[in-house]
Amino acid sequence: MNVDGKPTRSIWLEPDGWSVGVIDQTALPHRFATARLSTLDEAAHAIRAMLIRGAPLIGATAAYGICLALRADASDAALDRAYATLIATRPTAINLRWALDEMTAAVRNRPRTERIAAAYRRAGEICEQDVAINTAIGRSGLPLIEAIARRKKAGERVNVLTHCNAGWLAAVDVGTATAPIYLAHDNGIAVHVFADETRPRNQGASLTAWELGQHGVPHTVIADNTGGHLMQHGLVDIVIVGTDRVAANGDVCNKIGTYLKALAARDNKLPFYVALPSPTIDFTVANGIAEIPIEERGADEVATMTGRAADGRIETVRVVPEHTPVANYAFDVTPARLVTGLITERGVIAASRAALAGAFPDRAGAAQ
Ligand code: MRU
Repeated sequence: MNVDGKPTRSIWLEPDGWSVGVIDQTALPHRFATARLSTLDEAAHAIRAMLIRGAPLIGATAAYGICLALRADASDAALDRAYATLIATRPTAINLRWALDEMTAAVRNRPRTERIAAAYRRAGEICEQDVAINTAIGRSGLPLIEAIARRKKAGERVNVLTHCNAGWLAAVDVGTATAPIYLAHDNGIAVHVFADETRPRNQGASLTAWELGQHGVPHTVIADNTGGHLMQHGLVDIVIVGTDRVAANGDVCNKIGTYLKALAARDNKLPFYVALPSPTIDFTVANGIAEIPIEERGADEVATMTGRAADGRIETVRVVPEHTPVANYAFDVTPARLVTGLITERGVIAASRAALAGAFPDRAGAAQ
């Protein structure tokens, strides 16, 4: 998508042909900064410290992390070490394991001399595949927005509520939850997005608002607890969120607070859709609520807030009393029964075991 009118992706190969460029998302929305990753440890740090984040982009960065590791040492032992280092960076988004398994399959049975080229080839394919999947998700989801637009009176907008950032910054390009939104906007539909701020890291306020603004999509940032009120008053037409892992039974894991939006949507008889690229399905997990590991992050993310002061300096201030215990669960699981549908690259399907296995028999079969 565009940054200051210039087509930009969230990850790229630098002109040297081997090091990896990413947007340092911790600097947004106040500053557009990039980082160059040239070692396995730098790639692992970028994921762990959330310079990059979002399930598909975590997978893509890990894929290049394997490339960087193999440049230094193309042995089996180095490949195993790189896998172990990267898989330990963040526990919840399954795209990480998916990408690492894809990379391992692409290089493991090759002679050492071929491994680096094969790794870069596969990492590049993973990135291109992500863009193609998200573009198809946009096409799958567009009719949902078009149908709402047809019911609107002249001058009324389609109001979409989204949580966290499941936009192009969370993927390689286009985004997942944002894909139908961008397509609707580009097709001339008057669409407006309510972006939950998404405490504690504020991905909605910092990232979703920034990227929608860059593309000219009308949007409003709301405090996390506002969605229910808006839904009660007819100000939301549809909820579309992303996901970090969908279990075989259709349970959806996504950024903390997603479950509450699904409950509010159900109480208000509003559609709650999840944009789902197939690498985010985990057919090895039968029950999402019981089995998906939920990342717990540091207390400081909740106890402090960071922003730009009036004089332009970036400042972090404490908002919780000293010594008060803090819990920081990064994700929650929305039960399949609250999900109206999954917007996938193969169409909109039910959030159920049968529908997932029917749409993705290749993935379901491989997990047996
Ligand atoms: O902690 P984050 O910022 O990595 O969490 C991101 C999300 O929860 C997204 O909604 C999810 O990864 C889907 S991204 C297309």
